[in-house]
Amino acid sequence: MVRFENVGMRYGAGPEVLRDIGMELAAGSFHFLTGPSGAGKTSLLKLMYLAERPSRGLISLFGRDIATTPRRELPALRRKIGVVFQDFRLIDHLSAFDNVALPLRVAGLAEEQIREHVSELLRWVGLAEKLNARPATLSGGQQQRVAIARAVIGRPSLLLADEPTGNVDDEMALRLLRLFEEMNKLGTTLVIATHNEGLVTRFGHARLHLENGELTQERLRAQHAG
Ligand SMILES: Nc1ncnc2c1ncn2[C@@H]1O[C@H](COP(=O)(O)OP(=O)(O)OP(=O)(O)O)[C@@H](O)[C@H]1O
Ligand SMILES: [Mg+2]
Repeated sequence: MVRFENVGMRYGAGPEVLRDIGMELAAGSFHFLTGPSGAGKTSLLKLMYLAERPSRGLISLFGRDIATTPRRELPALRRKIGVVFQDFRLIDHLSAFDNVALPLRVAGLAEEQIREHVSELLRWVGLAEKLNARPATLSGGQQQRVAIARAVIGRPSLLLADEPTGNVDDEMALRLLRLFEEMNKLGTTLVIATHNEGLVTRFGHARLHLENGELTQERLRAQHAG
């Protein structure tokens, strides 16, 4: 699903913020991405959702080397990837409902189905009362849940979530993790960047750990630890 070989990345003419990244994430796998602030988690996710290019090395997604894939084919790859951004990036002038509906409208689903799916998902993340609210009128944790709903609604093949539980309480964090696990059971490959060691231990999925731009471990934890 995702393969990196000797990947390096720098912003502009700056120093490398990622070095010698090698990893292979199998289809259907579930990884937590951990490491201190500034270690490079968001940068690594940006490479995976094609927002940044590596300065060296090979990246392949869905079996395609992205360096040799024609530019016109990249949007189709990108559409298979759902992203929860660390800073949400909701569309300000659209309601919570319309933000989440967007990927389904782009995919051309019937409005009736959209209404059903979006309402159900927003209910699940505890936002039944907020369907018509604009992002600016929502709390940070509520905006985060809208961002998660938007990322998962289209059942992406690969879901990349950047600190998706950073603004919610522990109970909601568990609920969101269960949503991610449901998607994983339905075949979505997940990478979840988090500072929440409690969640990593509790859910016991494989871990990619970054320190100072380098992957220091990729170890499998016992399933269902804790
Ligand atoms: N747009 C940018 N331009 C230049 N440098 C950047 C940019 N974004 C990040 N960096 C640098 O890249 C390094 C890795 O940052 P990154 O955002 O990937 O860390 P992170 O692990 O996601 O941190 P956090 O846990 O705080 O979100 C840091 O040294 C940061 O200063
Ligand atoms: Mg980050």
